[in-house]
Amino acid sequence: MSFDRTIKIAPSILSADFANFGAEIRAIEDQGADWVHVDVMDGHFVPNLTFGPPAVKAFRPHVRTFMDVHLMIAPVDAYIEAYAEAGADMISAHVEAGPHPHRTLQAIRATGRKAGIALNPGTPVEAVEYLLDLCDMVVVMTVNPGFGGQKFIHSQIDKIARLRGMIGDRPIHIQVDGGVDPTTAPLVAKAGANVLVAGSAVFKGGSVQEAAVYGRNMRAIRDAVGI
Ligand code: DX5
Ligand code: ZN
Repeated sequence: MSFDRTIKIAPSILSADFANFGAEIRAIEDQGADWVHVDVMDGHFVPNLTFGPPAVKAFRPHVRTFMDVHLMIAPVDAYIEAYAEAGADMISAHVEAGPHPHRTLQAIRATGRKAGIALNPGTPVEAVEYLLDLCDMVVVMTVNPGFGGQKFIHSQIDKIARLRGMIGDRPIHIQVDGGVDPTTAPLVAKAGANVLVAGSAVFKGGSVQEAAVYGRNMRAIRDAVGI
């Protein structure tokens, strides 16, 4: 996939029906999702547990767009190959997940997958300054990771703007994850983010049977951003 800075919507399947992932993935893609965001949690780095590599492997054949796997796990290095083999297109690890994020990014790149680095809300943007040349994406968490449906943390807008300046013309996406909805999306887009993860704002009110609601929810985000 060639790089471009157009705004992309990446619904988080953390807000999908857990008994029906295949159909949920097809529904959001039919309704215009650009990427599919998969939140992997280990009950240690974050206080919640979600998907191991076999679950991600089961999602893979249903994803026609781009499978963006967000690893909220520590330690992370030992699991990179398993998630790559499960079919992730992009693997993002947290800069806080261990003492050697540079090595982690090298390990992701060695699998041939795109590499992302994620920052918790309390982590300064400088933490990724010397990692940028190993990154295809930086994820700015706008909630504390662990759960969907939390309130957007406004202080992160300044972080996005500073990161955008730091990246310059390098082909690196800025992803925003947490609390993105039609009210907050224009703020992060204006600051320089181009990949918008949204869980509750996309899935709310809809279902596989009423997938048009997902389409309307994504349209509301795009309209708010002006695309
Ligand atoms: C938080 C996850 C997010 C989150 C987004 O740990 O990484 O992807 O589920 O959900 P909303 O959009 O509901 O905040
Ligand atoms: Zn996420």
